[in-house]
Amino acid sequence: MHTLIIDTDPGADDVIALLFALAAPESLAVQALTTVAGNVPLAKTSRNARLACEWAGRPKIPVYAGADRPLQRTPIYAANIHGSEGITGVKVHEPAVPLAEGHAVDYLVRTLRAAPEKSVTLAMLGPQTNLALALEQAPDIVRGLRELVLMAGAHFNGGNITPTAEFNLFADPHAAEAVLKCGVPITMLPLDVTHKILTSDERIARLRGLGNKAGTIVADILDAYAPQEMKHYQMPGGPVHDATVTAYLLRPSLFQGRRIHVEVDSREGMGFGQTAADWHGSLNRPANVNWIADGDAQGFFDLLTEHIARLP
Ligand code: BDR
Ligand code: CA
Repeated sequence: MHTLIIDTDPGADDVIALLFALAAPESLAVQALTTVAGNVPLAKTSRNARLACEWAGRPKIPVYAGADRPLQRTPIYAANIHGSEGITGVKVHEPAVPLAEGHAVDYLVRTLRAAPEKSVTLAMLGPQTNLALALEQAPDIVRGLRELVLMAGAHFNGGNITPTAEFNLFADPHAAEAVLKCGVPITMLPLDVTHKILTSDERIARLRGLGNKAGTIVADILDAYAPQEMKHYQMPGGPVHDATVTAYLLRPSLFQGRRIHVEVDSREGMGFGQTAADWHGSLNRPANVNWIADGDAQGFFDLLTEHIARLP
């Protein structure tokens, strides 16, 4: 069982990751969602996070809005992939339940300080700005953290926003730098694995065939989102990046990785936001990340479909 906070920038694949996580209350005790600017600006990511809670039938999960911009760099967004509202393929509306009061960073500091030692897992599905701000304000919060599980990074086949960088790290490399150094156990699910876990017509049809509202939402998102990624990367299916974090939390045995040393490049230039992942241990530096390089694609889609089936 994980006591879980999910930091997110929904984002089409974030919404799928959230629905997936909210469908597993026996394994994932979701305390709150914290939002950050990323795929779209903060007001939209915060609305979309509340929509995910509503669609999952869990509208009372508190959603705290956090950082509206990266630590240092100019903000970037990915509306070209996720649509202008951030959830391509589905209609959005203003959710009935408002945002929780207070800033996400204050929520993180307060909650992690009060938590028993090594008790809270933080899943991070967007730029890592909120945790970096919380660490700067209150470095002692690491005590309350059990593990960080991040969708971030790229090593073997290059990036998705530049030739070298993955979006979440490119969007705030300075925040990622602080997080990678914080000393809490970190698992990263980079493009190396998310580009191996791809949709197919049959996988989307199974989700749609569930016949519930959540299955239709996930299938509509994937039908709109996957073709763009397939076209851009010439892949046979679309990745569901952030949802691999949920799958990892629920069933880590679906994934294979290695504990290695990882740094992020925060110097402006071609390598800005790139992960240097020392897969072969060439530098002989201490491992700070469990870097996931492979996963069971069919196992992932079976687990996702099984969980989405439980939702309204
Ligand atoms: C990551 O970038 C975002 O566009 C997605 O939501 C995901 O978190 C993939 O690089
Ligand atoms: Ca995301």
